[in-house]
Amino acid sequence: MSKNIESHLSEDREFKPSKEFSKKARISSMAQYKRMYKESIEKPATFWAREAKELQWSKQWTKVLDWKAPYAKWFVGGKTNICVNCVDRHVEEGRGTKAAIIWEGEPGDKRTLTYQQLQREVCRFANVLQANGVKSKDRVLIYMPMTPEASIAMLACARIGAVHSIVFGGFSAESIKDRLEDSKAVAVITADGGWRRGGVIDLKANVDDALKGDKTVKKVIVLKRTENEVKMKRGRDVWWHEEAAKVPATHKARAFDSEHPLFILYTSGSTGKPKGILHTTGGYMISTYTTCKYIFDMRDDDVYWCTADVGWITGHSYITYGPMLNGVTQVMYEGAPNFPDFSRFWQIVEEYGVTIFYTAPTAIRAFIKAGDELVEKHDLSSLRLLGTVGEPINPEAWMWYYDKIGGGRCPIVDTWWQTETGAIMLSPLPGCTPIKPGTATLPFFGVDAAILDETGQECKANEGGRLVIRQPWPSMLRTIYGDKKRYKDTYWSDYSGMYTAGDGARRDKKGNFWIVGRLDDVLNVSGHRLGTAEVESALVSHKAVAEAAVVGRPHDIKGQAVVAFVSLRAGVESSDALLKEVRDHVGKIIGAIAKPDDVYFTQALPKTRSGKIMRRLLKELVATGKATGNMTTLEDINVVRNLEALVQKK
Ligand code: WTA
Repeated sequence: MSKNIESHLSEDREFKPSKEFSKKARISSMAQYKRMYKESIEKPATFWAREAKELQWSKQWTKVLDWKAPYAKWFVGGKTNICVNCVDRHVEEGRGTKAAIIWEGEPGDKRTLTYQQLQREVCRFANVLQANGVKSKDRVLIYMPMTPEASIAMLACARIGAVHSIVFGGFSAESIKDRLEDSKAVAVITADGGWRRGGVIDLKANVDDALKGDKTVKKVIVLKRTENEVKMKRGRDVWWHEEAAKVPATHKARAFDSEHPLFILYTSGSTGKPKGILHTTGGYMISTYTTCKYIFDMRDDDVYWCTADVGWITGHSYITYGPMLNGVTQVMYEGAPNFPDFSRFWQIVEEYGVTIFYTAPTAIRAFIKAGDELVEKHDLSSLRLLGTVGEPINPEAWMWYYDKIGGGRCPIVDTWWQTETGAIMLSPLPGCTPIKPGTATLPFFGVDAAILDETGQECKANEGGRLVIRQPWPSMLRTIYGDKKRYKDTYWSDYSGMYTAGDGARRDKKGNFWIVGRLDDVLNVSGHRLGTAEVESALVSHKAVAEAAVVGRPHDIKGQAVVAFVSLRAGVESSDALLKEVRDHVGKIIGAIAKPDDVYFTQALPKTRSGKIMRRLLKELVATGKATGNMTTLEDINVVRNLEALVQKK
């Protein structure tokens, strides 16, 4: 971390958008940004009402914001349908023949859906959901490959007021089960499989495992994608295409209250099981709409591509909702970036003439490693704007992205935000903000961000502290599903009335925000959040394991790698076979991304005299090979020395 801060402090490269870019952009000068920002903070109701009026409401709100910390209601009394705004509105306004989704499957199959075709598919599927007993406010679990049907399923849920809860296709049956138990979903939407690195992921089998003993799920709707053979349970499982054939392609949508729940998305925290982050309709709609409009500067002739998966918040806000609210044409790709090799993304950019490209630093680092030749053989001149999200981007990766992918002509928007924030919070505006490698620069409209020290004082320039948001914003999470107390304790208890993000950061003299990383026990592996507590409890659930401590270590491509220190039960011998078994066990409990990169079997873990595992020492040990910090509270120093020997041997 400290090395990061040092390199950031000496970062003096700065880039400004070209005059040509600025002239065409929605926000073309810093003066304009500052004026709008000031209004958005001082008169949020005026600012947000103006934005909200650009979309369709069947009943106008009576009050823009009702704030009783930590509970916010936005566009109080307003009624709208977010699906109608994403889809029907474009057809009604004459954009029906415009491509909404240009999709490419991993094996190379292609499909384009216009807004009109999308409307028909969404309406059909809304009818399918209703015919299968799904009602407003029911929870629906979605476990799908990256096909247009993933977005169609989300939009159809929203259309009928059902609350979707997506589980990333890389997560395990156990993870689905936990989320089902928490959300009590009544239906599951899945597929017979999805393509990934040339193979088929058997999604349906995972759903079947997760549903053993379940009492709430009445229906499982299965999309045929791969012709993979699946078991269909009579009375419970139905095929998407068979159900769709039975219903009309029109559906009259009704409007829902602005605070109607839209979705639950589970994310890792520092303790216990993943938290169900709840987002509602009106505010989320306006934030995702405006961030796309101003930060991605979306225009009618853009071809936008976000490489995320709909299983993550980025896929919710910047594949399904935000871009469609703006009526843009977007590319969607099913598979892995390196299938058949690392030029796949550039081939797609060239073929479809992608103009706006949004990806994660971990992908950029993997491309750098794969070599420039794979980039150079493609014509990337259609690109005009680049974005990154998910973790701090190291300056070298930023420069490579800027030069090699953007040809030195495309602004990069480094966007900081979280599952909880629903939409981008810190980011340059591409037509005006001077950009520097490694900083997410300035707050977006309505975002009152600050960095505070432990006493609640605002930090001085370049002093590190905790990132907080001091005012509510439209797309803020409303609660943790079913757990108000955890909601208050996690986000609102550090400083009265303020949201704590859990990230450490500093601001430079010009006010740019530099994110350092998580302050809690949450790892960021390839841009994905993973709680060390979650991995530890998965490890401990293996019969051979007595105790486990998990920490992150710096990793070239993933950002952080998962390292596990494991003590075995009495009488169990450590072996390579056991090591593999333990890793696979974590994969089975959580999913492949959680499998520890390194596992150290040890007699004992370093603990304080009161029995707490000293993770701080383990973190230092895996990063540097030595533990040097304060060890006076340690119960037995030999434990650390033995671990040092183990780590150094590797
Ligand atoms: C990190 C992803 C630095 C941060 C949208 C945050 C970032 C966590 C950036 C949220 C960025 C996200 N620069 N760090 N541009 N974007 N992060 O919920 O630590 O999956 O708290 O949301 O990712 O991860 P989440």
